[in-house]
Amino acid sequence: MFDLSGRTIFVAGGAGYLGTPICDAIATQGGKLFIADMSQERLDVAIGKVKAKFGSDSADGIVFNIGEEDAIDAAIAACSKRFGSFDGLVNATYGSTGKAFDDLSAEDFDRANRLNLTGSFLLARKTASQMTGPGSMVMFASMYGLVAPNPSNYPAGMTPNPIEYGAGKAGLVQMTRYMAGHFGPRGIRVNAVAPGPYPNPNVIASHPDFIGNLSRSNMLGRIGEAHETAGSVVFLLSNAASYITGQVLSVDGGWTSW
Ligand SMILES: NC(=O)c1ccc[n+]([C@@H]2O[C@H](COP(=O)([O-])OP(=O)(O)OC[C@H]3O[C@@H](n4cnc5c(N)ncnc54)[C@H](O)[C@@H]3O)[C@@H](O)[C@H]2O)c1
Repeated sequence: MFDLSGRTIFVAGGAGYLGTPICDAIATQGGKLFIADMSQERLDVAIGKVKAKFGSDSADGIVFNIGEEDAIDAAIAACSKRFGSFDGLVNATYGSTGKAFDDLSAEDFDRANRLNLTGSFLLARKTASQMTGPGSMVMFASMYGLVAPNPSNYPAGMTPNPIEYGAGKAGLVQMTRYMAGHFGPRGIRVNAVAPGPYPNPNVIASHPDFIGNLSRSNMLGRIGEAHETAGSVVFLLSNAASYITGQVLSVDGGWTSW
């Protein structure tokens, strides 16, 4: 039911904290991976892990920046050359300054929008042009595209999750619905996952108070583990979700239901 055999999935941001277990899960279901990521170092590690476990034909990839149209074109051309047509797209990139509300410049805001919105739009449109049959796209939104960060969760010295990030994720939610309608007649489904709190090991180690606050803010009383968005992504890519499009699946321990 969740089988992805014979399908090529383009994973943007696939070398990241959540992207790496997503790639593992896609390959476990038989999918071929094309990983496009900004970091050459992380990309090499991510491709290497998949190839070591699933064989040398299971994955390839390229360094790219979703904010640059030429780089998107080059990545899509490289994926087509390597694997032929595409069947799926996962977009796990994001743009954020990490700056406090009062420090954010207009240029900062525009730059984040370029990555979260314009880049995601271009990547989806160009990917769809390479899909010859039914396809599936999964956009990474966030709980902070659905609700605002609670400033009281952030201990002194920590900057709350910044406004341009959540605004971009909220826009991505709307683009998901728009593109689901646009691509539906071609049999291409477009959905989003909205992760909750998945702080990486550095944050876990350096901010125990913050982790406690995040854990108390969701129904399961804990933060998410890196592998816990992968099942939802595989589900949405697979035939198990063949009549699901235009949806946002929260994978947040119930954070947004309180
Ligand atoms: N970790 C969380 O708590 C959390 C919560 C909600 C949503 N998300 C979303 O999940 C997705 C994955 O997050 P993550 O925690 O794995 O982050 P991460 O930083 O570990 O991974 C993101 C990956 O995207 C790549 N990337 C960043 N900017 C890029 C660009 N401009 N062009 C191409 N690649 C770029 C990075 O090199 C990295 O490998 C993101 O969309 C993020 O917004 C994460």
